[in-house]
Amino acid sequence: MMDNNELLERFYERFGGRDHAPRLFFAPGRVNLIGEHTDYNGGFVFPCALQYGTYLVIRPSGSDILRMASLNFDYSCEINTASISEKQSDFWVNYPLGVLDQFLQSGCPIPGMDMLFAGDIPNNAGLSSSASIEMVTAYAMTALFQFTQFSMMDLVKLSQRAENQFVGVNCGIMDQFAVGMGQKDHALFLNCQTLEYKAVPFLLRDFSLIIGNTNKKRGLADSKYNERVVECQLAVTYLDTTMHLSKLGDISYMQFYKIQDQIPDEIIRKRARHVISENQRVLNAVSSLLKGDLAQFGALMNASHESLRDNYEVTGFELDTLVEAALKINGVIGARMTGAGFGGCTVNLVRNNAVEEFIKKTSEGYERKTGILPTFYHAVISDGVREILADWS
Ligand code: GLA
Repeated sequence: MMDNNELLERFYERFGGRDHAPRLFFAPGRVNLIGEHTDYNGGFVFPCALQYGTYLVIRPSGSDILRMASLNFDYSCEINTASISEKQSDFWVNYPLGVLDQFLQSGCPIPGMDMLFAGDIPNNAGLSSSASIEMVTAYAMTALFQFTQFSMMDLVKLSQRAENQFVGVNCGIMDQFAVGMGQKDHALFLNCQTLEYKAVPFLLRDFSLIIGNTNKKRGLADSKYNERVVECQLAVTYLDTTMHLSKLGDISYMQFYKIQDQIPDEIIRKRARHVISENQRVLNAVSSLLKGDLAQFGALMNASHESLRDNYEVTGFELDTLVEAALKINGVIGARMTGAGFGGCTVNLVRNNAVEEFIKKTSEGYERKTGILPTFYHAVISDGVREILADWS
């Protein structure tokens, strides 16, 4: 949690105008419990929103100048609103700019503004810092300028388009959805094909949800991500010759099992095997949760990691080491990578009375093998994007 008055002070230091108070918005990050690399394949996912996220202090400037700064990055920008649609090399400002550009494309005028972003979510760790910047921007626009025609689901789709078209990552809809629709103490069971969803109570009782950060930078992650998207499309074209399908999410594991030899390339077959088996694991995980069987839920998390490691090949040495070290600890019933992979974070289900030992021993085991110290966070499942009615004092 960041201190509201501290944020306000930093805003005034940067932009001045103390007689004209800004508004404050917050969008969480997310952790995905199971259902990885299934969203852009029309499959199932099961994420939840976190207590960490991105704060946005914002005020219309009464001019054509758009100023954006962040407490997390040195780079800031000051541009004319006429240049919103121009990408700024590789900087973080492309996430909010992409969102503003989408509003312009929808016929909504965007005036000049002063915007200060501040995040307490680790960047580039696979906890959706990007989706949280996008969604906090999108939500703030609707609140500030009464763009009432946009439902939350519209903002989710708009932010996904911003990332696909402006930033250039062909991500699915999971992150923006979890950030927008998150509910305290619930995980969101989403069908990414139909966008039907159900909020399922995720009551941990004797267990804690602990996120482990490998602190390995996710280099080249975006291009490898896009490569997986293409591989899945290729798998569809092979399978489509006998069974009509437009996405891998259209077929069950039993159906795939029978026709998998139609994919001549072993690598492409493995990619499809992951996606289709992961979809089944999400269904099983949700039903085990509804039965109160957390042990089964944990076992499915472990199986998910194995498939992401062996079939989808998006884990890598650091994520595998952190998961292996975690699973050696008594009281850990599930451990897997979460998010896109290629570095980033793991998510672990740990018995409450084992959490301390888990953090100590897993850190030691991981550091011994990788030379990197991991970081752990206790996840609190929280609500989605919102305005914080700040009592600036
Ligand atoms: C990233 C993407 C999501 C999803 C996950 C993998 O977080 O933004 O759309 O594909 O990777 O499950």
